[in-house]
Amino acid sequence: MHSQLKELHQDHINLAHVLHLLESLLGEVRAGEHIDLNALSEIVDYVQTYPDLIHHKREDVIFSVYLEHRATDRNELVNRLMAEHVLLVKKTLEIREHIEQWCNDSPVPRERVVAIIADYLQMQWDHLNLEESSVFDLLDQELEPEDWARIEASMPAATDPLFGRMMRQRFEHIFDRLLAA
Ligand SMILES: [Fe+2]
Ligand SMILES: [Fe+2]
Repeated sequence: MHSQLKELHQDHINLAHVLHLLESLLGEVRAGEHIDLNALSEIVDYVQTYPDLIHHKREDVIFSVYLEHRATDRNELVNRLMAEHVLLVKKTLEIREHIEQWCNDSPVPRERVVAIIADYLQMQWDHLNLEESSVFDLLDQELEPEDWARIEASMPAATDPLFGRMMRQRFEHIFDRLLAA
């Protein structure tokens, strides 16, 4: 597999760890426990800092070159994934706004918190699994060296702040929990 796709695959593994952590927080809320808003807030901060800001953009660069130069009958699928990137960014922003309300307001109905987080998790998993199951192998087979040269010329460079040994202090609540898991 091309190194760009390998890096994106590693991003998915990293994001999956964070989504599992979000699932465990959701389990705590479902069980009637206190919502760990610090951890929830760091998860959202992480998703906004790397997956939403960088990972989707890196995929968009590859998807755009594919659509422009190697399009096949999978066009619709790739277009759908690009549209989901826009939607995911919007959904993360909405969760951020909900957390701010939960921090400031009187008690929030537990079912509402559960529904919002469960919905968000489902969307993230569906997107990640669709890319892994239907698109990465296709891109690896279809894209030619000249396509990869185009891709690399416009690929944003950035390392994952949570898993790249940078800014771990910023994510101290979830980093400890990820290590413990
Ligand atoms: Fe994606
Ligand atoms: Fe992805």
